[in-house]
Amino acid sequence: MSDEARPRRTAVVIPAAGRGVRLGPGAPKALRALNGTPMLIHAVRAMAASRAVSLVVVVAPSDGVAEVKHLLDDHALPERTDYLVVAGGDTRQESVHLGLKALPEGVTTVLVHDAARPLVPVDTVDAVIEAVRDGAVAVVPALPVADTVKEVEPAGKPGDPEQVVATPVRARLRAVQTPQGFDHDTLVNAHATIALAGEGATDDAGMVERLGAPVVVVPGHEEAFKVTRPLDLVLAEAVLARRRANDGF
Ligand code: CTP
Ligand code: MG
Repeated sequence: MSDEARPRRTAVVIPAAGRGVRLGPGAPKALRALNGTPMLIHAVRAMAASRAVSLVVVVAPSDGVAEVKHLLDDHALPERTDYLVVAGGDTRQESVHLGLKALPEGVTTVLVHDAARPLVPVDTVDAVIEAVRDGAVAVVPALPVADTVKEVEPAGKPGDPEQVVATPVRARLRAVQTPQGFDHDTLVNAHATIALAGEGATDDAGMVERLGAPVVVVPGHEEAFKVTRPLDLVLAEAVLARRRANDGF
């Protein structure tokens, strides 16, 4: 398995400790199958597909560490890619923090990638890594938004009418995805500095922004969408079917 002492340069932290409440009852989201393979395995393979990635740290549900280790042992990764599994926390922010703490010395570039984005193409992963290696301290893949977005005063009860506060100019908005890429020390500093509030940060780049460091956006990809609700599972399996048809196997 992993040789934890060997220095590596680009590592990926994969938060996979969420329950997947919006997906509905069942196994933790990252362990749900897409075409027979757990979503997490798709996500790990998507990261390991990049030649630059030498270590993947999976942050598993705290009661699922052994299960996730077995899953990773059972699904081959490229020779060049090591992996570690650590237990996650109650929020995504905590889970990422715990993953960062597991990184060995010598990592200079860190990607953070949601297990819930299993189908991101390797070209997107490589573009994020390249932008970090070219000197950006924080890089976010993102797409223009299709819907007009309203800011509202959230209703007290679900379903109640909500007062609109503002309508940001759509052309200036981007929907951000993962993997987000960082200079290691910048991200570790952000996670050490920014206290957990409420449900915690859902976006690592946002934490770096709050430190005043520059964050840049690079083009995302429509296949990097996040599996959140049941319909997203249908879309993910359709994307896999299209890939199989195109690859001819
Ligand atoms: N995540 C995590 N630890 C948590 C919460 C979330 O590692 N305590 C991870 C999820 O496993 C997922 C990613 O963060 O890969 C993005 O979160 P999200 O899509 O919100 O997943 P869940 O929190 O599992 O889903 P939900 O919010 O519907 O419960
Ligand atoms: Mg969540």
